[in-house]
Parts: sequence; C-alpha cells; structure tokens
Amino acid sequence: MINEILNKDSFSKQDIITLLKAEGDDMKLLFEKSAEIKQKYVGNKVYLRGLIELSNICSKNCYYCGIRRDNNNIQRFLIRDEEVLEAAKFAFEKKFGSVVIQTGELQSIKNTKRIESLVKEIKELSNGKLGITLSCGEQTEDVYRRWYEAGAHRYLLRIETSNKKLYSRLHPKDKLHKWEKRIECLHLLKKLGFQTGTGIMIGLPYQKIEYLADDLLFMKEFDIDMCGMGPYIEHPDTPMFKKRHLLLPIEERLKLSIKMLAILRLIMKDINMAATTALQAINIEGRADAIRAGANILMPNITPGIYRNSYKLYDNKPGTNENAEDSAANLAQLARLAGAEIGYGEWGDSKRFMGR
Ligand code: 5AD
Ligand code: SF4
Repeated sequence: MINEILNKDSFSKQDIITLLKAEGDDMKLLFEKSAEIKQKYVGNKVYLRGLIELSNICSKNCYYCGIRRDNNNIQRFLIRDEEVLEAAKFAFEKKFGSVVIQTGELQSIKNTKRIESLVKEIKELSNGKLGITLSCGEQTEDVYRRWYEAGAHRYLLRIETSNKKLYSRLHPKDKLHKWEKRIECLHLLKKLGFQTGTGIMIGLPYQKIEYLADDLLFMKEFDIDMCGMGPYIEHPDTPMFKKRHLLLPIEERLKLSIKMLAILRLIMKDINMAATTALQAINIEGRADAIRAGANILMPNITPGIYRNSYKLYDNKPGTNENAEDSAANLAQLARLAGAEIGYGEWGDSKRFMGR
C-alpha cells in the first residue's frame, strides 16, 4: 500500500495524508525512498549558510513567537555593522559559501538602507563570492528590489501555514498580520528574481494533518525554490503558551517534521531544504535525521555569542549558550553522522531555480 504510493509520480492530498500517518516499517520505507530521491536529484552534499541574527526588534506580534513586540521579558538588541561584517568574514574564511541575514520585521527607511549597505559590503569583502540570503519579513516591492540589486539573491519568508483560518488564529487580526499580504510578498520575491523560500511550523495548536498536506501542496503549487520548516516549540512568554494542552508531545512534532521533509523531497525533488535548528530542540539527532530524510542545507548560527540568548523565537533554542555548538568540527561531525558531505565554499543554489 505504502509502496504503491511511494512509486507514484504525483501525489494526491489523500496520498500525502497516508504518508504523514505512516508509522514503523511504512515510515522507514518513506525515509528510504526520500533518501534515494535526494541522492538522485540533489546529491549527497549539504551546503552551509552562516546565520546572522541582526536584531530581535520586531514590529509584529505573532502569538507564538518569543521576540514578538509585546514581550517585555527580553533584552532587545541590534548588532553593530562591524559585527555583522566580522561574522560574514568568518563565514567566508570558513568556506561556508553563503550567509543568511535574519531579523525581526522592521519597515523603515533606516532598516532598508542598513540592509542594503550590509549586503553590498558583504559582497565586497568576499569579492562577490559569498552568497546572500535575506530573511527580513514582509516589505514593499521597492525595498525587495533594492536589496536584490544590492546583491542578495535568495529570500526566505515562511507562510507559517497555508491555511488562512489557522493563520488568523496565530496572529492578531489587524493590517500588520495578513495572510494575503504574505502571499503577495512571496509572489513579488519570485517576480523580482529571488530564489524564493518559504516554510511552515509543524505541530501548531489547531493544526490538522490535512492542513499539513495542504501546506505541501501549496509549496508545490507556488513552485518554491527552498524550504525551511520545523516543529512549533512553545514559548512561555507568548499568548500561544496557554494552548499548550492542545499540543502533540514534542517527540511527535519532531517525527512529523521529518516526515514532512521526506514527503516534500518526494514531491519537489530538486529544491533546497533546510535542517533547521528547531529540529534539534530535544536532541542532537534531529538535524541528522532531517538530512538523512532529505534536507540538504544547514544554517549554523554565527551571530556574535553575547546576543544569542536574546534571539529566542522559541524555548530551549539550541546553541544559545555555547558558542561552539556549530563549530566547523561539529558541523563536520553532524554531516558524517548523517552520511553526507559538506559543500565547502559552494553556493549550493537551488537546482529547481537553476533549471527553471
Ligand atoms: N516555534 C518554532 N518556530 C517559530 N518561529 C517563530 N516562533 C516559533 C516557535 N515558537 C519561526 C517562524 C518564523 C521563523 C523566523 O521562526 O516560522 O517564520
Ligand atoms: Fe516578528 Fe517573525 Fe517573530 Fe512574527 S515570527 S514576531 S514577524 S520575528
């Protein structure tokens, strides 16, 4: 039964639901198939994106997120330009290939200009050799264009859930938090020529298995180039924490996340897929499992250490206490554990994008 589905070329919503529910031997077959597809279409390499968290100041108030505007329980920071460039230089010297600049969502001329000039400076310091991904939220077409022209060529903007109703339960009902706006931004990014990535959270309160199937079909339909998705992890200083009685145990959320990655690899064979740090929330094996099941991107955090404790989107974020968590040696060990090889000094662009 599972084998029949796994050998199909295209998958119905019902097929995807069946795969999401697979357990035991069936689940093993799913992971074997996704590993095989990964090998065939994107190969055995994982590519590195050094993650720089620019600021935890955010104008939004998403109910699930630890750096939401109304959380007064954290110290807000903005790292200095020199520190960003220092981190980028580190990534370049360590042959990480690319960096990701991630920040809370700010729509201001100052923020636009700052990111624009940082992108230019990172390009300069690396002789154009470091790839740059931005993850800086919803912006106008004009802002996205400026950043693209400055040299950023990939952009991540998670849809969080493709289900409009669920989205509205996760966010305040105001102009700042509109599902339609997200979609519009994703289309703008694609139109402007960015390699466009999206993703969702897995195991949210009120989220049904059918919604997850829809999420995967949404990504296929939109024809994304990259995906970052992982388990929802409750944060005590957020309104959503009150709904924690509705959650699956974290182990289940994790397992579901790996299945989501595996299924996405089956339905979008040549995209880039990240093994996100949230996958490692309970143990170190999380990211290795994700790589085995189909992920081919790692995003080691290279934000200067002192700020890391303040950039907690969720609780127990790994790597916030130790600087060495994602040291080169640990990354190599992780890759080895997962039977993969690191693509040092390579951009590792989305094959899907390149083939389009
Ligand atoms: N658990 C897991 N992921 C979260 N994010 C925000 N809050 C949480 C949480 N509590 C994710 C969102 C966002 C990305 C930057 O972090 O998907 O897009
Ligand atoms: Fe801000 Fe993003 Fe957190 Fe929402 S999820 S509060 S936009 S950082």
